[in-house]
Amino acid sequence: MDSLLPFSLLLLLSFFASASAYNVRAIFTFGDSIFDAGNNHFNSNCTAQADFAPYGSSFFHHPTGRFTNGRTVVDFISEFVGLELQKPYLEAQIEVANGSRKDYPTNGINFASAGSGVLRGTNQDYRVTPLQDQLQQFQNLTDQNHIDRDLLKQSLFLFESGSNDIFNYFLPFDPPTLSPDAYVQAMLAEVELFVDRVYKLGARRIAIFSLGPVGCVPARALLGAPVDRCFGKMNKMVKSYNQGLDGLVKSMASKYPGAVGVYGSVYNIVQLFRAVPNRYGKG
Ligand SMILES: *[C@@H]1O[C@H](CO)[C@@H](O)[C@H](O)[C@H]1NC(C)=O
Ligand SMILES: *[C@@H]1O[C@H](CO)[C@@H](O)[C@H](O)[C@H]1NC(C)=O
Ligand SMILES: *[C@@H]1O[C@H](CO)[C@@H](O)[C@H](O)[C@H]1NC(C)=O
Repeated sequence: MDSLLPFSLLLLLSFFASASAYNVRAIFTFGDSIFDAGNNHFNSNCTAQADFAPYGSSFFHHPTGRFTNGRTVVDFISEFVGLELQKPYLEAQIEVANGSRKDYPTNGINFASAGSGVLRGTNQDYRVTPLQDQLQQFQNLTDQNHIDRDLLKQSLFLFESGSNDIFNYFLPFDPPTLSPDAYVQAMLAEVELFVDRVYKLGARRIAIFSLGPVGCVPARALLGAPVDRCFGKMNKMVKSYNQGLDGLVKSMASKYPGAVGVYGSVYNIVQLFRAVPNRYGKG
């Protein structure tokens, strides 16, 4: 598969590879189903689950709570830099509480929760863990010295979230009060707050992944959107959010001394997969 990775993903990986030469000791991950390694699975109150077949079938050979048949992008990056895959925070928490492990893992922790968004209210009826609580979980661990502060400077911080907020903007039973532009700005304000707080807690290598073409997901049919083409209004919001993320990353070098920001460009890669699937092992 690796030889088929598109060029921009290779660029991203080469960033991580050079990071590896500088010693990547841990990975801390925040976001939604794209990154969730099983947090929802270990949250018995949460109704957004992937703990049944065929999830996990092609790599782990059993469901792990990941919303994919195989590994997530975070898993691939982790393997690439030579780290063991990170545990979901809630699994580690249960294990520390029940005494089956002494302390939290030193190779990083995955805080991502499928269904969550950058806006606190997104999919709260499913009891997902919003970005703000994911960050608080991380902060609690650092406050309580469960995470070595020196480790943080040599760690990667991966962020990917926003698809669920934008998808939910179009839910027919919950009409938005904000204009599309104001809604995207509110989302970006939360991401900015996240970057600000995670930097203050010690993060220095931060990768912000942008969104794929959310308006092309099959679930758009649930919203009454046309099924013979992508949902243009949704993709327009996605592109404007992505542009905002790009700007945020560009401002990081001057705003946050010592930090390195990377923008993960996902939209065009996914469109390429959709346009010529046979080049990427499908079709
Ligand atoms: C699930 O909900 C119950 C009742 O509200 C609460 O006591 C418990 O702490 C929750 N569990 C988790 C894992 O959030
Ligand atoms: C502790 O929790 C983990 C994760 O749920 C479980 O696999 C393990 O069996 C538990 N150990 C004990 C001693 O209860
Ligand atoms: C963080 O720790 C505080 C104090 O122990 C606790 O009340 C809170 O629930 C924790 N927050 C999260 C998101 O785990």
